[in-house]
Amino acid sequence: MHPSALVIGRTGQLARELARAPCRFQPVFLGREEADLTRPEEAAAAVERTRPALVVLAAAYTAVDRAESEPETARLANTVAPGVVAEACARVGAALVHVSTDMVFDGAKDGPYVETDPPAPLGVYGQTKLDGEGRVLGSGARAAVVRTSWVFGASGANFVQLVLRLAAQGGEMRIVGDQVGRPTGGGDLARAVWAMGDLLVGGEAAAEGLFHYAGADDATRSELAEAIVAGSAARGGPAARVLPIATADYPTPARRPLNARLDSGRLNRLGVASRPWRPVLDEALDQLLGPRTRDVS
Ligand SMILES: NC(=O)c1ccc[n+]([C@@H]2O[C@H](COP(=O)([O-])OP(=O)(O)OC[C@H]3O[C@@H](n4cnc5c(N)ncnc54)[C@H](OP(=O)(O)O)[C@@H]3O)[C@@H](O)[C@H]2O)c1
Repeated sequence: MHPSALVIGRTGQLARELARAPCRFQPVFLGREEADLTRPEEAAAAVERTRPALVVLAAAYTAVDRAESEPETARLANTVAPGVVAEACARVGAALVHVSTDMVFDGAKDGPYVETDPPAPLGVYGQTKLDGEGRVLGSGARAAVVRTSWVFGASGANFVQLVLRLAAQGGEMRIVGDQVGRPTGGGDLARAVWAMGDLLVGGEAAAEGLFHYAGADDATRSELAEAIVAGSAARGGPAARVLPIATADYPTPARRPLNARLDSGRLNRLGVASRPWRPVLDEALDQLLGPRTRDVS
């Protein structure tokens, strides 16, 4: 018999990847209509009703810029809901994997961030996610909080889809060249989440607490865009020129950390591997556009 898992989230990028990734759980996915995070008790009631072995909180208020003008909605979904879901998990004895973000940091560190680095969010989204982490970790639930960053893949709305859409318009695209991160495959993140769930349900105390999970190597936004465009052209897909620009020349309501690199060492040492982003990008483009037909450097 497979243990049951309740995944809060159905339509988002991570939820879709969780549905595709192999796991030893029998997962049930709850969409916004069954568990609206702005009514946090709904999600908690679902946990109490179904009493699963594992809960994965895969939904969140992820509109980083809009959060600046909707702070109360972001707080309900990203802070209050994770807290009450974690308390419900503690009551019914369910393990919990909650997902958070690099945007709890301001990006000023000279090097990849580890879990013990002090957070300093630059905006409402990062602050509400940070507060949610605290609620989960203080709830008494057997919980892992997994911070991730720059998630991309063939599923859901993400940077790959954005760049392909811009490329289809032809000409030149302006992409920031001074933000550096560690692009993370959505499928890899899903496998990491299921692996953490496995460990927690198996009673592994080392899987509790705060973890970083990202790809194994660095890229700037514009390098990633260039690789997407080159990979697209090699598959007969849309191509365009990438013009790197400075973040300062692309003002947005919420500031982004210039350094979004997360060090995944703690999770890697638990046996959950990170991969370099280029082969992961190739897999995503193969799924979206088919195999390479041309050599394009
Ligand atoms: N994607 C990244 O690069 C990235 C980076 C760092 C951290 N993360 C974290 O990873 C987790 C998963 O993100 P993702 O990439 O899957 O995001 P996503 O693709 O934007 O999906 C967000 C999901 O949350 C749902 N949602 C939003 N507000 C809701 C509400 N009030 N009630 C119920 N559901 C609601 C959305 O539902 P609708 O479809 O109905 O709107 C959607 O299914 C989040 O915790 C996020 O903070 C993501």
